[in-house]
Amino acid sequence: MNHLPIGIFDSGIGGLTVAHAIIDTLPQESLLYFGDTARIPYGTKSAEAIRQFSEEITHHLLRQGCKAIVVACNTASAAALDHLRRKWPEAPFVGMEPAVKPGAKATQTGVVGVLATAGTFRSQRYASLMRRYASGVTLLQDPCIGLVEQIEAGKFQSPETEALLRRIVQPMLDQGADTFVLGCTHYPFISPLLQRIIGESRTIINPAPAVARQLSRVLQQKGLLSSTPSPSYHFQISGPRQQFDFLATGLLGFPVRVEAGTEL
Ligand code: DGL
Repeated sequence: MNHLPIGIFDSGIGGLTVAHAIIDTLPQESLLYFGDTARIPYGTKSAEAIRQFSEEITHHLLRQGCKAIVVACNTASAAALDHLRRKWPEAPFVGMEPAVKPGAKATQTGVVGVLATAGTFRSQRYASLMRRYASGVTLLQDPCIGLVEQIEAGKFQSPETEALLRRIVQPMLDQGADTFVLGCTHYPFISPLLQRIIGESRTIINPAPAVARQLSRVLQQKGLLSSTPSPSYHFQISGPRQQFDFLATGLLGFPVRVEAGTEL
């Protein structure tokens, strides 16, 4: 059982930022990644639709023998994580949420910018995070319409992406934000651009390393850690190949060849 892969999914390439952190933290684990590129974006779809997609993907990953599932998508975690845990009580799940708590801890000005999707902001899960951790700070939210599409297209530094990101963060900067929470797994791809716009003295919080550490704790508790010296990495997407191989190879630093058009 321990040698079996960890299943990871997202709507597209975003979850690769989490896969990257998992490979760093748990280099002996094999991974099976699924990007639902045929149905991206998730952020503007209904919670019911996201629950349905997440259930189909989880079923697909478990059928292929995954020993644990990482929901490497804030939007899917917000809409579906509780549902998935109820449906598969035996399977270990690790999900994501915007790093409101670390953001509230890190800010000096008391103003935190949260970048996430409309679906995440609408969720109960986000409302509960705000209640629990943000009572003493001001959270400024933006659903970043169009940003996921720019990132999927590999436009991490293009003038359009920069203009879009400036429109999003300038009002936050004007209101004193000194800490920016990346509440969507796609956004770490544009972290260098964001840092350039907000300046080096301001903080960006990417929760992916914390998620990898949480996964490590869960696997340890369940006695599921792998000790294989040669882990395998497989990548599947529901849509056409497009730039996936190129972008994944660039991020992960080893050659990636995705199985495009994978059916659930
Ligand atoms: N990467 C996803 C997240 O973390 C959402 C992107 C999308 O809208 O599909 O929320």
